Amino acid sequence: MSTSFRVATVHDAPSVAEVYVMSRQRHYRGLMPDAHLDALTIERSTRAWERRIGSADIGATTVLLEEDGVLVGFAMYQTLEQDQSVGVRTAYQRALYVHPDQMKRGFGRALVEEVLRRLREEGYEQLVLWALAGNTKSCAFYEHMGFERVEGATRLWNSGGSDPFQLEQIQYRMIL
Ligand SMILES: CC(C)(COP(=O)(O)OP(=O)(O)OC[C@H]1O[C@@H](n2cnc3c(N)ncnc32)[C@H](O)[C@@H]1OP(=O)(O)O)[C@@H](O)C(=O)NCCC(=O)NCCS
Repeated sequence: MSTSFRVATVHDAPSVAEVYVMSRQRHYRGLMPDAHLDALTIERSTRAWERRIGSADIGATTVLLEEDGVLVGFAMYQTLEQDQSVGVRTAYQRALYVHPDQMKRGFGRALVEEVLRRLREEGYEQLVLWALAGNTKSCAFYEHMGFERVEGATRLWNSGGSDPFQLEQIQYRMIL
C-alpha cells in the first residue's frame, strides 16, 4: 500500500464529494437535522466542490491523500481572506474529511501535517479554523494535534438550503 498527496483539480470533485457526503451522513447525525443530511447528494455536492476547488480568487487549495490511487481523505485551506487586520499572515482551513471507513489510520494527522508544511513553506504565520462546537470528536482531534482554542471567538454557521438552521462554531488556531 502506498500513499501520496496531490492538489485537486475540478476533475476530482466527484470523489471529493463522495467522501464529503459519506462522512457528513455518518458523523454529523445528531449534530444536524436528519432531513438536511438525508438531502445531501453526491451530484449536488460535486457541483459545490467544483466551485470550491476552482476558487483561485480566494487562494483555495484542496489537498488529496490517496492510497494506491484511491481517495482516503482531503483538506481544503484558503490563503486569501478579506480580513488580514490581525497583521499576521493567516491561512484558513475550510475542510478536513477522512473517508469514514479509513479513520484512525493516521490519515487525518497526515493531512493536517501536509497543510502545515505547505503553509510554512509559503511563509504563513498561523492557521485558523472554525469547528462546530457540537462536533466534540473533531474538537478533541484538533486539540490533540496541537491547535489552541481562541477564547471568546465564536460565530454562527448558516446551513443555507430550503429549511435553514444555524449552529455555533468555535475558533482554533495553530501558530506556524
Ligand atoms: C477528524 C478526522 C479528520 C480525524 O481523522 P483520522 O484519520 O481518524 O485521525 P488520525 O488517525 O490521523 O488521528 C491522528 C491523531 O489524533 C488522535 N485522534 C483521532 N481522533 C481523536 C479524537 N476524537 N479525540 C482525540 N484524539 C483523536 C489519534 O489518536 C491520533 O493520535 P496520534 O497520531 O498522536 O497517535 C476524522 O475523524 C473525520 O474525518 N471526521 C469527520 C469529519 C470531521 O468532523 N472533520 C473535521 C471538521 S471539518
